[in-house]
Amino acid sequence: MALLAVGVAGYAIAITFIPALQSPFVKNMMSNTPVSAAGHFIGGAIALTTGAFQVNSRLRNRYLHWHKILGKIYLFGVVVGGLCAFILSVQSFGGWATHTGFGLLGICWIGSTIMAYYHIRIGNINNHRDWMFRSYALTLGAVALRFYLPASQIAGIPFETAYQAIAWLSWVPNILFVDWFFLKWYHKQTG
Ligand code: HEM
Repeated sequence: MALLAVGVAGYAIAITFIPALQSPFVKNMMSNTPVSAAGHFIGGAIALTTGAFQVNSRLRNRYLHWHKILGKIYLFGVVVGGLCAFILSVQSFGGWATHTGFGLLGICWIGSTIMAYYHIRIGNINNHRDWMFRSYALTLGAVALRFYLPASQIAGIPFETAYQAIAWLSWVPNILFVDWFFLKWYHKQTG
């Protein structure tokens, strides 16, 4: 998971700074909304990379000082990446289905991360951990999207239809999985 997260983050940083690597789709984003696009790519890359080191309980317990520093950097990445994502979602390719899918994802992404931060500030470690799992499951939507898109093209689904569905499919199953299966299993393991 960490490798995939770092891979997508590396891709996002590369297309931000190396125009030769930008697809026509990304070139268009960079010329229409350069600040939101760059802010989204960099904020998203920060969240993907720092979050990958936060979920492992052994790393967390051993390097608590680093956990706190990386947690604040993660919060910064999500807020910047999420606000920019919200601006991008209003003009995303595919019409209302992608505007609402990506827009709601942006709101849930920032909302779940702020909930996690709020719970740790009031000392509620269990709620903090649960909200961080939800937040990172949404961050991983960026990885899921990059699996579903090529898969939909191989399956011969027209790009616009696939993109509209993926604006929802990349994150709704993630959050359902976390709440219906993962957290139940995790609470059983940890008591
Ligand atoms: C989880 C909340 C996220 C939301 C709501 C979101 C939303 C969006 C939107 C609306 C677009 C523009 C699509 C269009 O114009 O049709 C986009 C593109 C993009 N996003 Fe995100 N995104 C999220 C997370 C991330 C993360 C964590 C990364 C990792 C760095 C990321 C990297 C990218 C990249 C690289 C593109 C350009 C298109 C491409 O090359 O695939 N996003 N995103």
